[in-house]
Amino acid sequence: MNDDRIVAQTVGRALSTRLAITSMGEKTFYVTTPIFYVNAKPHIGHAYPTLVADTLTRFYRQRGVDSYFLTGTDEHGINIERAAAARGVALTKHVDEIVDEFKTAFAPLGIEYDQWIRTTDPGHEAAVAKLWRILDERGHIYKSRYEGWYCPNCNEFKEVDEKTSDLVCPTHERPLERLAEESYFFRLSAFQEPLLDHYAKHPEFVQPDVRRNEVISFVAGGLKDLSISRVSVKWGIPVPGDPKHTIYVWFDALSNYITALGWGTDEHQKFARYWPALHLVGKDILRMHAVYWPAFLMGAGIELPRTVYAHGMLLRGGQKMGKSLGNAIDLGVLKRHFAPDLIRYFLLREVAFGQDGEMTYEALIDRSNSDLADGLGNLASRTLTMVRNYFDGHPPRLRNEEQSETEDVSSRIEEAKRRFDEEFVALNFSRGLEAAWAGIARVDKFITDNQPWKLAKDPARRAQLESVLATAYEALRHLVLLVAPALPATSREIWNQMELAGDPLTIDPNKAVWGEPIEVSKIDRISPAFPKLDKGKIMAEIENENAAPVSEGVEAEDGGGKQAGNESAGLQAGMPALPEVPALPGPPATQIITIDDFAKVELRAATVLEAEKVPKADKLLRLIVDLGEPQPRQILAGIAQHYAPEEIIGRKIIVVANLAPRKLRGLESNGMLLAASVGEDGKPVLATFTEDVPNGARLK
Ligand code: MSP
Repeated sequence: MNDDRIVAQTVGRALSTRLAITSMGEKTFYVTTPIFYVNAKPHIGHAYPTLVADTLTRFYRQRGVDSYFLTGTDEHGINIERAAAARGVALTKHVDEIVDEFKTAFAPLGIEYDQWIRTTDPGHEAAVAKLWRILDERGHIYKSRYEGWYCPNCNEFKEVDEKTSDLVCPTHERPLERLAEESYFFRLSAFQEPLLDHYAKHPEFVQPDVRRNEVISFVAGGLKDLSISRVSVKWGIPVPGDPKHTIYVWFDALSNYITALGWGTDEHQKFARYWPALHLVGKDILRMHAVYWPAFLMGAGIELPRTVYAHGMLLRGGQKMGKSLGNAIDLGVLKRHFAPDLIRYFLLREVAFGQDGEMTYEALIDRSNSDLADGLGNLASRTLTMVRNYFDGHPPRLRNEEQSETEDVSSRIEEAKRRFDEEFVALNFSRGLEAAWAGIARVDKFITDNQPWKLAKDPARRAQLESVLATAYEALRHLVLLVAPALPATSREIWNQMELAGDPLTIDPNKAVWGEPIEVSKIDRISPAFPKLDKGKIMAEIENENAAPVSEGVEAEDGGGKQAGNESAGLQAGMPALPEVPALPGPPATQIITIDDFAKVELRAATVLEAEKVPKADKLLRLIVDLGEPQPRQILAGIAQHYAPEEIIGRKIIVVANLAPRKLRGLESNGMLLAASVGEDGKPVLATFTEDVPNGARLK
């Protein structure tokens, strides 16, 4: 297909101005997650948008909408190059291994994507080059020179004031890198007005509103042209016609949303069928999705995504979970102790989508016990147990002459269904589930009020008993269908225990009619769908695991959890043992550290102002050193046998400045000086500079 036809095909499709983020009236539904960097182990923060996308896809599919769910991995760029180098592994081997690890980590959560795109897929690479050529031909790209600062972890060029900034990335708290090289630029500045116009005409384009306002004010503040190539990065897609340049990793990555559907190739049927998308993204990467991406698409004449929805961050101890802080909840620990549906339910119910939310193991256990074990699980097991005990396992069916109370239950269930759908379409998952649980509570109350266990003792009240259990069973049938997209495994489990025919995930709850004839067999196999969790026991197990030695191949994001072992005792009762996440092979930790590990060590230049021997300590010198800080520091150094105090006063030295303070002989040492250990007796030789360096200068 030639470029003109692609443009005509995509531009020709009318843009709509719907307020609903996703709409039931549509024939197709296309949802994407961000594609994940393969520079670290997957954690729950990555699984979060992916399981939301999975739930939404199941929701639309259950309602008959032709749906497509894309996820994948972002495999090019300097941070990946460095991660592979740090492991001493070839790049292709490194990316393949981490991709496998992501896939293996997501599978136990019941995540079933339609496609896993990799930016190293040859088809993707060719289509990205095509998008570049279209933009170039249309005059949106020019060559110039970039000079400035770059964060290799954000893969972002940073605007900083060199006089006042500490030249550290505020997100990653790691040093920025100076770049000065020839670069291609995208004329982003030319898209300021068209973007503002699009935001105004399509309020649903960036959501939630608070994020939309942020984006509008960012763009209204003025846009600078964007550097979209790097000569110093080799691991990426070469710029067409100028292969010494590599395409900027965000240009490459964002394109995945259309290249995955075959855009730019002869196989573009999926693009025609599913585009435009709903992009689910973390609020930290909103600007790339809501400003750069639509500008690239506008430039190429391609229809814009329907919505970019920015969700909040999962927090631990009030801070974003992730690699930078090393505080992320490990998927291995979750997998060992909690059923996948519980993790899904927790994230959808406890965290309001769009807002930040704290995640703790304790809260997970509490939610499980209150909403799942006592709520849905209890309703299912008591209803089914009574059907088995009082009706020999054959659920009674509703008759026409049911009383008003039954009618009230059915209308509450219909109300729950209506609200659930309304909230899910607006991506308010928590409120949608709340509506379903209001339905569960209504049925529970109905059972408790009618006391079927008493009715069962009186043969004269058999008809009433039938009516009560028929109502409870029918309500349960509708509720299980309703919650199935969020709880796929347990909904199927309860459905099977109810001995109903078919798969609840393929039956539209809105087409299920109250009291309709159904195909059902004899109930006899009942087991709790959500066993009660013992908080004390699970927390103790998790703490023990965290105390055990860690063996991780790739950078561990959670300082804790050991790799999954086969500890079936720690698994939830009734849950199948899950496959293990393989530990990636890597060099021993003593030989190789990552660049991020190194960046944690703050090495600074200093001058020794004072030096004296510490009384009664043969080896120690007490130094007062100037690190360029308001106050000089005291440092104790074990060099007294090799350096006389007067010999080192005035010397320029290198100090580890962020070492935790330590007391030696009652004196506090606030840092450590660097020295090489030479010869058989390990004589220390102080590290220094051969050129003049100001005190406080950082070594990187
Ligand atoms: N590769 C880019 C995305 C390119 S999309 C064209 C990237 N990758 S990432 O692996 O660093 O992050 C992927 C997603 O995970 C981001 O949306 C980010 O917000 C999300 N999360 C990472 N940690 C998170 C939490 N603690 N909580 C919620 N989401 C988090 O950025």
